[in-house]
Amino acid sequence: MRGLLGILVILKYCICGDVLHFDGDIKDFVVGNSKLFVLTDHRLHQMRHDLTEEKSKDTKATEHNRVNILVPFDENSTLITCGTFNDGYCEVLDINDITKSIYYESNILIGPRHDEKSVAFISGTSSSKYLLVGKKDEDAKPQDTRYSVVILWNTLHSQFGGIFSRIAEGSDAMIQSTVRDVEFVDGFQRVSPSESYLFLNTKTDSERKVLVLWINSSKERKRDIIRSLQASRIRCCSDKARPVLVASTVIPSVNRVIWAGVFSAQNQQDPENSALALYDISHVKGRVKGFCGIGENPCGSESDTELQPLSVVFKYSSMSAVTSVRSGSWIVLFIGTSDGQLIKLVLDGKYTPGCPTVLFKSDDERAVFPRMHFDPVDFKYIYIALKKQTDEHRGVFRDPGEIVKHRNTVYRQVCYGYVYYVFGKMCNAVICFMVCAERSNGRWLFPLSNVISVGACV
Ligand SMILES: *[C@@H]1O[C@H](CO)[C@@H](O)[C@H](O)[C@H]1NC(C)=O
Ligand SMILES: *[C@@H]1O[C@H](CO)[C@@H](O)[C@H](O)[C@H]1NC(C)=O
Repeated sequence: MRGLLGILVILKYCICGDVLHFDGDIKDFVVGNSKLFVLTDHRLHQMRHDLTEEKSKDTKATEHNRVNILVPFDENSTLITCGTFNDGYCEVLDINDITKSIYYESNILIGPRHDEKSVAFISGTSSSKYLLVGKKDEDAKPQDTRYSVVILWNTLHSQFGGIFSRIAEGSDAMIQSTVRDVEFVDGFQRVSPSESYLFLNTKTDSERKVLVLWINSSKERKRDIIRSLQASRIRCCSDKARPVLVASTVIPSVNRVIWAGVFSAQNQQDPENSALALYDISHVKGRVKGFCGIGENPCGSESDTELQPLSVVFKYSSMSAVTSVRSGSWIVLFIGTSDGQLIKLVLDGKYTPGCPTVLFKSDDERAVFPRMHFDPVDFKYIYIALKKQTDEHRGVFRDPGEIVKHRNTVYRQVCYGYVYYVFGKMCNAVICFMVCAERSNGRWLFPLSNVISVGACV
């Protein structure tokens, strides 16, 4: 890991990929089956996967109108957007043309009113899909002892109660918490079987914790989905407590659900402040204190069940984002940092990390947006957004993905007129070597002047 620091300065001369600049700060971005949607301060942009802009739409954002939900609903060919305008609204847009509004409903607040983090995605089976939203309860009164934290909203007119209704058959259906201070960081739905995972931070006077909530979304009825709740505390790590989850990714796996989280000790001075750890979350079984389906007494269990890491694969002062892809038995993790780097880390089948490689370093240390997305079609491209800092440097990057051929040979990466070859697995020889190649008359050249890094490996 020490050699990594030496690499950075040199690498910034080989910035790869297409860069797209926007007129405002990027607030959120999501990837659908054939489109990418980027929400900036004032506009919503619709793009093809190659970052060609197709449409854009004014969101009329003001202090009182923030778009707070942006969820592609591919099966319905729509994009669900909600915001805070006029006590809240939700709008269903045509996913192929966001300037076409299909449905609009006012006086409904589904996402967070203030700038809180939240998680929203489509959950359910092909016959019953809901918009699952996890967020802090902002309407709680001082005397309340339970707060609603996860709600399933209808997505179709044909569902009981109609579109954007939260009511369930017979009674309300939601997950409640006795802890007021919750922060939802990530969540996803697995397709087969249909099950949904949510990851959140909780904070009380005495303790901070990271939790995973699991629900069985193959059930048709909302109440049965909520009743299936299982939960566990996630601990990181044995060297020191890092009780705050910053970002996470699910690692594509066949028989198990392997998940990686970036955990922080909240001390930026510490060179090992953040740790990236892998967990097997295939069977979240048990409950935690203070989280339950509505009406359940007591709420949750007396003692928490706990998950410990399978492997802690990377430590760094300030990781802020992570995503992953599998290549045979290898796992490739892409890690974003709050000082603007994109680092690649390859793990073998036993979750042992190889050399970390810096793929990209921003000139002015802009933090990488916590969510990074792969192109959902071929997983060859990764989209990264950088947080604002200066006017010229706002953008989404489409970084060419890599073909990890063999650990002992080369990783190929095509960027503009360059390819860089990383002679990756030379860790045993203590050297990592990287060169930016040029294409000339149809041939690849590797001028020695283009050596961009020689460093020690971890
Ligand atoms: C999409 O959702 C809208 C709103 O419920 C509905 O009218 C429409 O039929 C749905 N379309 C498809 C293709 O499911
Ligand atoms: C989830 O619910 C479905 C439908 O009721 C059931 O068949 C399945 O066994 C449940 N899965 C788990 C892991 O409990």
